[in-house]
Amino acid sequence: KAKIKTAYFCQNCGAESPKWLGKCPACGQWNTYVEEVVDSTPKSQTVAWTGEVKGSGSNNRAAKPLKIKEIEHQTEKRFNSKDAELNRVLGGGVVPGALVLIGGEPGIGKSTLMLQVALKMNNKKVLYVSGEESQSQIKMRSDRMAHNSDNCYVLTEVTTQKIFKQIELLKPEVLVIDSIQTLQSEYIDSSAGSVSQVKQTAAELMKFAKESAVPTFIIGHINKDGNIAGPKVLEHMVDTVLQFEGDRHGSYRILRTTKNRFGSTSELGIYEMQHNGLREVSNPSEILLSQREEALSGVAIGATLEGNRPLLIEVQSLVSAAAYGNPQRSSTGYDVRRMNMLLAVLEKRGGFRLGVQDVFLNIAGGIKIEDPAIDLAMCVSLISSYEEMNVPDKTCFAAEVGLGGELRAVNHVESRISEAQKLGFEQIYLSKYALKGIDMSKYSISIRAYAKLYEVFQDLF
Ligand code: TYD
Ligand code: MG
Repeated sequence: KAKIKTAYFCQNCGAESPKWLGKCPACGQWNTYVEEVVDSTPKSQTVAWTGEVKGSGSNNRAAKPLKIKEIEHQTEKRFNSKDAELNRVLGGGVVPGALVLIGGEPGIGKSTLMLQVALKMNNKKVLYVSGEESQSQIKMRSDRMAHNSDNCYVLTEVTTQKIFKQIELLKPEVLVIDSIQTLQSEYIDSSAGSVSQVKQTAAELMKFAKESAVPTFIIGHINKDGNIAGPKVLEHMVDTVLQFEGDRHGSYRILRTTKNRFGSTSELGIYEMQHNGLREVSNPSEILLSQREEALSGVAIGATLEGNRPLLIEVQSLVSAAAYGNPQRSSTGYDVRRMNMLLAVLEKRGGFRLGVQDVFLNIAGGIKIEDPAIDLAMCVSLISSYEEMNVPDKTCFAAEVGLGGELRAVNHVESRISEAQKLGFEQIYLSKYALKGIDMSKYSISIRAYAKLYEVFQDLF
């Protein structure tokens, strides 16, 4: 009887070791190694996709070096997924043969998104493979959706070899796998969702996608703490990584590109979860500004940019004297360490006694903002709440705040100004260093540019 071969895998980053380790040398996490059964046959021989390659057996042709000048320029023939937000994050449509990972926490709406996209692409034969739900559950889900297709097939199967058999029969033009954690390859004994299974099944899907030119979307679950192995390991293998995120209790969802071999990684798609599926949000600023009648202290609007897309986003904060013990600090949608830094700057440079205050901060719409241009709106919102003074109506902000309380220029200032003007704002506060080479006379919005944070406060309050 052959000895079962096992190895230890870091469940965080996927590093492999012949023996158990307390601390992963690759990612530095503790207690992440788990023993998994692996097969001793080399991985390259175990890849299961054996289908015919489109064209004339190009996999038999040995690769030869070519002068870069001689390489034919191939314009990728992308196709339209009929979902404007998805097209945008993919870099302008679906690339044939691309392997795309859609990661996100359970319940965020990954299955909803991909089933909806499968239904929208009704001019393509789409195979939606689910290891999570039964065919009738998927049917029920699709009944709730506003889209329908004659070209969408559903298969409930988890063994990759059996999936490939069905693919050979059906010859789909687009493949969706829901989810990688449920897949199992017959070549490996360990359980579904383990690092070695995830690696193996992903490698098989990659070979399939590349040789058949069928774009393949893989759904992958990520835990709150980001600790599950699958997607982290996968990120290195796939062409594109899309992150589906948002507040599960709120209705907005963001589709963010974090890796893309076929486009920029700064793109963002926005959806709203409705009773009949996800609605594409094509004009996000309007919904990200909460609807209210009268001015409120602690509210300021930042002119941010996500990808190439300007977004005007409302920052709300509540600063109030700490009732007991240590002051509380909490932030939703914004890095709490960065908030603490801004609080320190306000305390040290502005003389505001914020150290003894509870501070709660919230970005409207459940969106996470990484653009440093929101700093100024953040500071204004905090001081507005602290001083109980309203920010004037139709005013927005776009500047990074430095440790010295100085305002720093941010990129793409003109698209921020234009967006603010388009949405009816009457004044925008910027760093005065941001205005180099900008023709201010072409804007009707009032541009107020300063070098220091306190100058903004003096002007505002
Ligand atoms: P789901 O796609 O199952 O999440 P995931 O695959 O990421 O785990 O979506 C989960 C939530 O979406 C679920 O709580 C119900 C909700 N939902 C809607 O609000 N509207 C809809 O039309 C559908 C299909 C789901
Ligand atoms: Mg799901």
